[in-house]
Amino acid sequence: MALSRRSFIRIAGSSAVIVAAGAGAFVLTREPTDALTPWRSTAAAGNDPRHKALAFAILAPNPHNRQPWLVDLSRPGEAVLYCDRDRLLPETDPFSRQITVGLGCFLEILRMAAAEDGHDISVTTFPDGEPGDNLDGRPVAHISFKPAAGAAKDPLFRHVLSRRSNKEPYDIERTVDPAILQEVVKAAHGEPAAKASTDQTLVDALRDLTWRAHLMEMETPRTLMESVRLMRIGKAEIEANPDGIDLGGPMMETLKAFGLLDREQLADPSSTAFAQGLDIYRAITQTAMGYVWIVSDGNSRAAQLDAGRRYVRANLAATAAGLAMHPLSQALQEYPEMAVLYRELRETLTVGEGRTVQMLARVGYGPEIGPSPRWPFESRIVRA
Ligand SMILES: Cc1cc2nc3c(=O)[nH]c(=O)nc-3n(C[C@H](O)[C@H](O)[C@H](O)COP(=O)(O)O)c2cc1C
Repeated sequence: MALSRRSFIRIAGSSAVIVAAGAGAFVLTREPTDALTPWRSTAAAGNDPRHKALAFAILAPNPHNRQPWLVDLSRPGEAVLYCDRDRLLPETDPFSRQITVGLGCFLEILRMAAAEDGHDISVTTFPDGEPGDNLDGRPVAHISFKPAAGAAKDPLFRHVLSRRSNKEPYDIERTVDPAILQEVVKAAHGEPAAKASTDQTLVDALRDLTWRAHLMEMETPRTLMESVRLMRIGKAEIEANPDGIDLGGPMMETLKAFGLLDREQLADPSSTAFAQGLDIYRAITQTAMGYVWIVSDGNSRAAQLDAGRRYVRANLAATAAGLAMHPLSQALQEYPEMAVLYRELRETLTVGEGRTVQMLARVGYGPEIGPSPRWPFESRIVRA
């Protein structure tokens, strides 16, 4: 049932919906407990140092929360990381560049967690060669674990469990101190280079550009549908598939129960639910208070993994500083309709020939949010 905008606001604002969404007992039952268990059970991963490290690595940020990692543990003391090619994003990420960046985030947290547990890991990326435009079945990384009493612990590790991609609107009264942002960038040290700015002219330009890029994704039917198919609306769907775009919480559930929110409406640009979704995203893009971006020399698969390592370090350093961070990747996506905005982004960030923007994220101060769902690490092991 497609409702008019006015009826939607009237019903969603009605006391029945508000009372239902806010009822204490109801609120308490709406948390997808199983889907969030991996955030609470890292200490129960057993004695195998690979399991212990994996329990943290699966908490890495990754595009659309696809969690594309698969790990072969059949050889003692070693792990072989593969990409689960059933978890790609062919429409918005046609060359699996973002998926590879997410695997880089995974490797960096794996390294930190192993060090915390007294192990050094040595990582050989793409041991059987780098794939080209399409990820193939070859391994992404070969990892060996070695006990090392003096393994250098990383101070950022402490923030792995509280790191978030904070997708809420940020406080526009609260500016970001450029010195704090420089600390965040410094934590992402090395090549690819991380950069940041709070310059108002740049912020205004990127607020506008990221919003237009979002609209482009929403107005291109096949990219819109890719997201819609990955939406998990309400607790039951999130528990059944703890990945993708989770639309959870009492309000979403109540809107769903009242027939105001479903996949069909979210896929229909003339529906009120779709318009509401745009309103929410406009508020998100327009409250960016600064940006962090990561640029690599070239665009090799190794550079993409490195960009992920840098990005998650920046995300952790932001967490340490109490700063919210949220990737906005639409303008970086490599499908034909986005090409104009992709070019505009490169010009706005003055990215030279042969360099690639691997990540763009907004920063600011946002409300505290909970973690996002995860598949347990055991389910990502292909051979034990
Ligand atoms: C390469 C990459 C691209 C991403 N792009 C976006 C994006 O465009 N929009 C967005 O809301 N989140 C984006 N994210 C964040 C993911 O949605 C997020 O990491 C995932 O949902 C898991 O949530 P968490 O980071 O809070 O654990 C991206 C993350 C990565 C690593």
